[in-house]
Amino acid sequence: MPPSKPQSKSKSKSKTLHTSLHSALHNRSTKLSLRQFRTRYTTHLSQAPPLYPFSSGGSRLLAGNSPYAESLESFIANFHNAPTGLLFNSGYDANVGVLSCIPQPGDLILYDEYVHASSREGMRLSRAGKRVAFEHSSVVGLEEGERNVFVVIESLYSMDGDVAPIREMVEVVDRLLGRNGNGYFVVDEAHATGVFGARGVGVVQEVGVEERMFIRVHTFGKALGAHGAIVLCDEVTKQYLINYARSLIYTTALGFPFLALIRTAYEMLAEGETEELQRNLQHLVQYLHTRLGELASWDPALFEVDHFPRSPIFSLRSPLPRQLATVCQRKGFLVHAIMSPTVPAGQERVRICLHAGNTVEEIDGLVETIQGWLNNQASDKPTARL
Ligand SMILES: Cc1ncc(COP(=O)(O)O)c(C=O)c1O
Repeated sequence: MPPSKPQSKSKSKSKTLHTSLHSALHNRSTKLSLRQFRTRYTTHLSQAPPLYPFSSGGSRLLAGNSPYAESLESFIANFHNAPTGLLFNSGYDANVGVLSCIPQPGDLILYDEYVHASSREGMRLSRAGKRVAFEHSSVVGLEEGERNVFVVIESLYSMDGDVAPIREMVEVVDRLLGRNGNGYFVVDEAHATGVFGARGVGVVQEVGVEERMFIRVHTFGKALGAHGAIVLCDEVTKQYLINYARSLIYTTALGFPFLALIRTAYEMLAEGETEELQRNLQHLVQYLHTRLGELASWDPALFEVDHFPRSPIFSLRSPLPRQLATVCQRKGFLVHAIMSPTVPAGQERVRICLHAGNTVEEIDGLVETIQGWLNNQASDKPTARL
């Protein structure tokens, strides 16, 4: 991101007033939403019959099922415009469960080189004949597929923060395998849930291709502030997973307090009560993007900002990510250095992940801290002697 020109004094003055008004409104709506969330959650808890067990008591296949879990699955599937859904204890379990048991011997899995470790683990356990990585978000890379293909992608990538070109990928699969052919998309919406699309439905619904996805995984541990995940799929696939996904079968199912927490979060999404937070987040994303663009002179070999439009995930690429992260952490900012092998060697970075509860003041403080670090780097550089 190239640095933009400094603003004139009067412009920055009116921006400051506007920014503080917005900031006050933003803080107010965040607090209101949090209060609503808590009130709804405690209401759900108190509506349970006396002595209703907090624990599920076992696996979904044994004592761990409940009408509450089943109705939650229907509610979420309906929100995401999917035929049905199956809850898992985590996104990790969901990806491992799906990818380890659905692809059959002789099948081919094509996966984006940047997919999450949980998808990799699932593929590693699968009986698919072949697993081939394609270049990150490359529509051309996808064309190398040959036959019965599972295409494994994320809608918003966790480390680079970029959105996958899902519509274009669907077009490639249609062209190669036919619209009703044997191409099957498995898309992980972990980072897009609650953030992208109307009321936070995710990227797939935002671009209107939900009917083309074989499986969508939405996780609840990120924007939704809960825990667990749902696999959205058709009824046959759900029944298959119930009988074959070991990460579902051999574990104690989510207990009532977590089901109620997930229900609370989804009710708020469905009723549009989080739309203001979504808008606030987009405002903060735009603000941080602009402020990072205003950072004064730096050496691109030392520091570079990588940001995909609208994404709450920013990468500050630097060969000194630990040093920069430590400086930010000392000032109270929860940012982390991401090192190889989590990202490819040479692409180490500090990852900033904004959430709707952040404030403009926090962003100002973070950007000032980064600027201070850049200034120190410049003054530490040995000057050439004549
Ligand atoms: C893209 C992606 N998928 C899946 C997961 C796993 O989700 P969970 O934390 O619910 O196990 C993560 C978590 O870090 C993730 O980033």
